[in-house]
Amino acid sequence: MPVFFQQQINENTRLGVWKIEETEAFFKGNVPVHREVTHPKKRLQHLAGRFLLQYLFPDFPYELIRIADTRKPFLPDERYHFSISHCGDYAAALVSRDSRVGVDVERVTDKILSIKDKFLSPEEQALFISEPSLPDPRLLTLFWSAKESVFKWYGEGGVDFKKQIRLERFNPSQGELNGYFAPAAHAFQVQYCFFDRLVLSWLV
Ligand SMILES: CC(C)(COP(=O)(O)OP(=O)(O)OC[C@H]1O[C@@H](n2cnc3c(N)ncnc32)[C@H](O)[C@@H]1OP(=O)(O)O)[C@@H](O)C(=O)NCCC(=O)NCCS
Repeated sequence: MPVFFQQQINENTRLGVWKIEETEAFFKGNVPVHREVTHPKKRLQHLAGRFLLQYLFPDFPYELIRIADTRKPFLPDERYHFSISHCGDYAAALVSRDSRVGVDVERVTDKILSIKDKFLSPEEQALFISEPSLPDPRLLTLFWSAKESVFKWYGEGGVDFKKQIRLERFNPSQGELNGYFAPAAHAFQVQYCFFDRLVLSWLV
């Protein structure tokens, strides 16, 4: 299947999600330069993520991608800013000509219940979780994904999710989460949507 979801975020920024049903040979034929990845499934995800970059912007220069010490891929001349995420059979990419970006795709599972205290502060839990004894894994996965998007948008690593990425306002009717990112002293707005048990979040 080709693209699963696509959105023109603004004049210079495009978002895409690919449902991976192709073989490795398909992606390798279309992605001339990529990182070596040992695990076959992860290799396929990696290739699909890279493939999307040129799918969204056909002149995207794969050969110029470099990897920072933090493991963030980037283009030294900043012709494009981009972010990639993969999960199961899905790969997502967000590419912009002029703005830093972050994207994350996550599958909703109950595992998130046992780690909520690691990434949500007591204030965030009091604000957003109405039934503390029975938190909704969809909501928790969304909050985790939003923080991952902020982490990727920043790209410098070394972020304390609980203390430094603060979720402050939640607007489900608009698919928006607002908050404050302390290391950059920056207010942010994450956009999101659900596809059944999958959550996609992004930040421009
Ligand atoms: C790097 C990280 C964001 C990757 O997230 P993930 O859910 O494991 O994997 P995803 O599929 O969503 O993203 C992987 C992609 O992120 C990108 N990436 C890797 N490191 C990155 C970084 N430091 N900044 C931005 N993007 C990064 C890469 O493009 C990678 O894909 P690729 O190697 O195929 O190109 C994650 O491993 C991480 O370190 N998160 C922070 C965890 C943390 O600090 N938690 C503390 C609170 S509990």
